[in-house]
Amino acid sequence: MTDTRHPLRLAVLGSGNGSNFQSILDAIDRGTLHAQVACVISDNADAYILERARRRGIPAHHVSGAPFKTKLEGEAEAAYLRTLQAHGADVVALAGFMRILKPGLLDAFAGRILNIHPALLPAFPGAESWKQALDHGAKITGCTVHLVDAGTDTGPIIVQRAVPVLEDDTPATLHARIQEQEHVALPEALQLFAEGRIEVIGRRVRIRKAS
Ligand code: GRF
Repeated sequence: MTDTRHPLRLAVLGSGNGSNFQSILDAIDRGTLHAQVACVISDNADAYILERARRRGIPAHHVSGAPFKTKLEGEAEAAYLRTLQAHGADVVALAGFMRILKPGLLDAFAGRILNIHPALLPAFPGAESWKQALDHGAKITGCTVHLVDAGTDTGPIIVQRAVPVLEDDTPATLHARIQEQEHVALPEALQLFAEGRIEVIGRRVRIRKAS
């Protein structure tokens, strides 16, 4: 059946390579994600995610996070908010965006910001989670797509995918296999959002049956 809903107007925020952004574009191209990317914003002028957007003719903005290094607050937060609103974004996907969001943005997009994290939360929040999992001796790790709240990787979980840790894994090989699963999980979670199937009950996310 044809989906008559408007495509989700998605803004993607990232600081680096943008392989997760690419997975969003690929899913849109395949027809498995009913969305259009309204804009890409990066706090890193040299981030390849911006180049990927430009090549597709998608508005790509470098918006500085200064003077802060790990959070988005004050003037910088206001500049992000203006850019998101100027592009009419409905939903924000954090795809390798290396800053903690603060209430200005969280409140403006309450319940409409998703993050992809490279571990099975609540295990291994924060940076380099694949390395944390390896150092800890975990046998299974994976990735999580969750709604963003004021904590670090603490919001309600939408989708998780498991990845076994192999005997001869290095941080790089493990991260690469986790990323393969991220590229499935993020478009899947966004499509659930696009279909209006996500219901948040306290900490739990209930996925409504497809209509
Ligand atoms: C991913 O592993 C994501 O989970 C983490 O940062 C990485 C970004 O990768 N938050 P990419 O820029 O999407 O390739």
